[in-house]
Amino acid sequence: MSSHVCDVLVIGGGIIGLTAAWRALEAGASVVVLDPSPGDGATHAAAGMLAPVMEAGFGEEGQARLGTASLALWPAFADALERAAGLPPGAVGLETTGTIALAYDGDDLVALRRMLALHHEWDLGSVEISPDEARRREPGVGLRVAGAAWVPGDHRVDPRAVRAALAAIAARRTLVPRAAISLTWADGAVVGAIDDAGTAYAAGTVVLAAGHASASLFAGAPTRPVPGTTLRLDADADRAPAVVVRGTVQGRPVYAVPRRVRPDGRREVVVGATSDEREDDHLTRAGDVFALLRDARALLPGLDDAVLLGATTRSRPGSPDNAPLLGWAADGLYLATGHHRNGILLTPLTAAAVDRALGVARSAEPRPSGVAPASVEAAVEAATRFANPRRFADPVLSAAGIPHGAIRGGTS
Ligand code: GLY
Repeated sequence: MSSHVCDVLVIGGGIIGLTAAWRALEAGASVVVLDPSPGDGATHAAAGMLAPVMEAGFGEEGQARLGTASLALWPAFADALERAAGLPPGAVGLETTGTIALAYDGDDLVALRRMLALHHEWDLGSVEISPDEARRREPGVGLRVAGAAWVPGDHRVDPRAVRAALAAIAARRTLVPRAAISLTWADGAVVGAIDDAGTAYAAGTVVLAAGHASASLFAGAPTRPVPGTTLRLDADADRAPAVVVRGTVQGRPVYAVPRRVRPDGRREVVVGATSDEREDDHLTRAGDVFALLRDARALLPGLDDAVLLGATTRSRPGSPDNAPLLGWAADGLYLATGHHRNGILLTPLTAAAVDRALGVARSAEPRPSGVAPASVEAAVEAATRFANPRRFADPVLSAAGIPHGAIRGGTS
């Protein structure tokens, strides 16, 4: 059996795993990333909404706060990533242009207003606007919508561009296209993993970032697949939205996330998404494509003229409470998984948490967060308490706010 030794072994090469790898490389660690098909997981299907406001439902104020904290870190994260990958400014497609939420019929409007009341209670800044005002902001909005809201706190980025930038950094040294099949334990600590070719990796720290598959490697990461389908359309910019448009059509949620206009005057629009509780099979149902297109064109009729480039079905990593698992789960084992519908949004906050876990030096250099270190520390502290992976194994300790490091050796 061959073997490798590294400081940090990252299991999972999606946006979260590669972000952890980047941060570990920045810390001067030797890093290996294991992923059997890098770039082909949830990140590949993600539309890239950065939506702490509209993605937070009733009872999910904690998720909204987590998402808002991470959104604040996105501009500097994008900037630092573009520089580290040698890309021009703007290459990862971050656009802070807000979101329009639409209600197709009267019942959808009742639901939207309930949501706006919740946002008001949580001070998230969204406001009801008239359909005419929605059309003034986004001329593609259809004539039949019953109501609308302006959501200034939700934005977008291009997940495939972000992942490509991260992969460009990691690929130089670290990516191994193999699946981890088991963790290696010694004296109650995780000390490495074995891949599907039988290669053993010995590591000081293992970061488990295998998305919904994390549960198959560690029972303390109770993730599950939540498959979703997104569609990629290629549209004339005059017939496509310029900002994120989302809404409900007779109770069914749908969103359209535009990318930047290309020199040929066209732009990609990602329409999504289904959300199912079933196995991860990457299979796209015809009925899902039909329903997404039917509902998207009900809100944005101009999409009728777009070219359908393809459909992508991948699984989000759900957790029992659909909040992430972020923190030490055992000595030597750091979890960065279970981000469910918000993996892209939560990437910068995950980066900051990994920085703290790995002891990435705080220096005068701009860091991915780029925000005042004290506020980053506060956000990471809040996030690692909220997303403490021990909450499932030991809910009483977790509810009491006792950090894992107080129990056995890890830093939390
Ligand atoms: N964040 C949107 C989705 O998961 O569909």
